Amino acid sequence: MKVNVVDHPLIRHKLTIMRKKDTGPKEFRELLKEITLLIAYEATRHIELYETEIETPLEKTKGYFFNDKDVVIVPILRAGLGMSDGILQLLPNASVGHVGIYRDPKSLQPIEYYAKLPTLSDSSHIFVLDPMLATGVSSVKAIDIVKEHGGKNIILVTLISSPEGVFYVNKFHPDVIIYTASLDRELNSKGYILPGLGDAGDRLFRTK
Ligand code: URA
Repeated sequence: MKVNVVDHPLIRHKLTIMRKKDTGPKEFRELLKEITLLIAYEATRHIELYETEIETPLEKTKGYFFNDKDVVIVPILRAGLGMSDGILQLLPNASVGHVGIYRDPKSLQPIEYYAKLPTLSDSSHIFVLDPMLATGVSSVKAIDIVKEHGGKNIILVTLISSPEGVFYVNKFHPDVIIYTASLDRELNSKGYILPGLGDAGDRLFRTK
């Protein structure tokens, strides 16, 4: 099973507050944004830097920069929206695509109901955002869509992952690197992650 668990003490502390059932939407949203920013710090470690020459007040020296215009974030609607701001705070020039997927109640197949992506190229660094990697069905479908649009370098960023979800994504997209704050125990019979934090979308948007 290939997954990078970013278990910095700050992340574990903040995630613990998010998991508590009494944590309200304001704090939940703020913490999701903060944790996403912290995971993104790790998940962007591989991005290549370009060399440049700059002048300090004292002398010329070498400097480094990367092109954050090459970064594309793709939140999966709707809970993925709660992660966008965290990455955009770090990479304000990133482009944002959106993908909406639901599960057909009869066939149980994932169905795309919305996809709007910026132009993708070989140099795009694409971060697909989904707080809860549960069965992995939505993530795999979202990654399919990104690849159909020409995306190649894809990282899946999640808050909590299940072993089943990681296995499923690894199986269909072995090239995709997963970053998560926690690998939880298992899925229950309804597809919720245990111990998890419940329905991330409902907790973000107070829909239950
Ligand atoms: N989606 C959620 O929001 N929570 C889960 O536990 C599983 C899927």
